[in-house]
Amino acid sequence: MQNEPMISTENKKKVFVETWGCQMNVADSETMLSMLLAHNYEATDKVEQADLVLLNTCHIREKATHKVLSRLGALRQIAELNPKMKIAVAGCVAQAEGEKLLEKASNIDILLGPGKIQELPYLLLQHETNAKTVSALGCKKDRGHDHEMPQEVNANPLVKPTTTGKHEITRYVNIAQGCDNFCTFCVVPFTRGREVSRPSAEIVAETRSLIADGAREITLLGQNVNSYGHDLVRDFKLPHSDRGPFVDLLEEIVNLPGLDRLRFTTSNPHDFTQPIAELFRRYPKLGRYIHLPVQSGNDEVLERMKRKVTVAEYWERVRWLRDVDPEMALSTDLIVGFPGETAEQFEDTLKLVEAVRYSFIFAFKYSPRKGTAAARFREQVGDAEQARRLAALNELQDRITLELNLGEIGRTREVLSHYKSRKEPDVYYARTEQYRLIRIASKYDLVGKVAQVEIIDANKTALVGRLI
Ligand code: 5AD
Ligand code: SF4
Repeated sequence: MQNEPMISTENKKKVFVETWGCQMNVADSETMLSMLLAHNYEATDKVEQADLVLLNTCHIREKATHKVLSRLGALRQIAELNPKMKIAVAGCVAQAEGEKLLEKASNIDILLGPGKIQELPYLLLQHETNAKTVSALGCKKDRGHDHEMPQEVNANPLVKPTTTGKHEITRYVNIAQGCDNFCTFCVVPFTRGREVSRPSAEIVAETRSLIADGAREITLLGQNVNSYGHDLVRDFKLPHSDRGPFVDLLEEIVNLPGLDRLRFTTSNPHDFTQPIAELFRRYPKLGRYIHLPVQSGNDEVLERMKRKVTVAEYWERVRWLRDVDPEMALSTDLIVGFPGETAEQFEDTLKLVEAVRYSFIFAFKYSPRKGTAAARFREQVGDAEQARRLAALNELQDRITLELNLGEIGRTREVLSHYKSRKEPDVYYARTEQYRLIRIASKYDLVGKVAQVEIIDANKTALVGRLI
């Protein structure tokens, strides 16, 4: 087997994919999986049977390396019973900690940076021919290896083969990689590199093929989707547009036949404009929900985070959205215990959360990331105080989420059903336009269907609906 190229192998090999972190990673995993399916692999959910284990890692908060190393330790034991197992580590931990990982874990066969995922089949081929650890690290811009890649692997490196055989209702499409913002706490510009937008024709083509594959909801992904295309305009690859290239892209996609919902994430308030908010008025397919990370409710903290918006400017954006629909649902990301954050400054975050009334929040204790500006700030907040603030914030949000969910009882909402329960017969899970999770009992197959439901019950996690 050693010298036999993978492409000519008759029997299919099995790949087990494990994805951590953001939706960007979910999309990258799907891209890698679909490439592998085109190269004689099939997916398995049994790690002990896998020929290839692909760990797609996340580096956004601390202990990431530790987590990967401990997973690799567990895999080493599994590999004792399955010596043919190869291990590929992809994603941001591979990118940021590559050398260190290789020193500490000898069982890595392939190391792959987030900008190099298209090279996976080529690396597998390389590994099979010389049985050495192979790596391709880097972000989108430094596509240094491409010219060396054999034609059959690199036929069209930018267009993602879309069939993962999943036929899922909700799918992700990457529209840009990387970020130019350099918020002082964040490693993303270092691990994923500077912002590089994909050509819109490619995004539209991929979306079309996902719809043909059964998708009804598409989520466009980027670290900062609202600034999509600014690099293309700067490089004369896209004409200038007054409304901004992201608005143009959304308008092109939202009207594609067969698409029921179009969502996008992550929106950075700095680049979120009124024309983007106005699209929600014009296109019901955009739903009534947006994730708009604020990080803190205090201007001084925001300044030190280099978020480039004030609390007042954040409120302006919330108002644009709630002018379109007072029931527009919002979620956000928040960091507690950012270096130097005082108890009073944290109180401002509680006040903001109380006033915006988010549907849900993602709250994190600040953790210093090597290479970022904030890691060098003095006055780091102690762990116990961070834990106290996190608990207070989550407690407040739990109350708000419950109140909002209970307020849904008796309302009629349009839902898109995503999947059928595996545990209970005739039970479907769907999302309302406000992106609330809803459980519906139905004799009819609801998967992929848009339906009107009456909300009959609710708790903190989900609503319960009845078909009308
Ligand atoms: N510490 C804590 N939270 C962080 N995030 C990003 N970097 C850090 C960090 N160093 C959070 C932010 C971001 C989300 C994806 O992760 O809230 O929006
Ligand atoms: Fe990180 Fe800020 Fe870019 Fe988001 S906008 S990815 S938080 S640097």
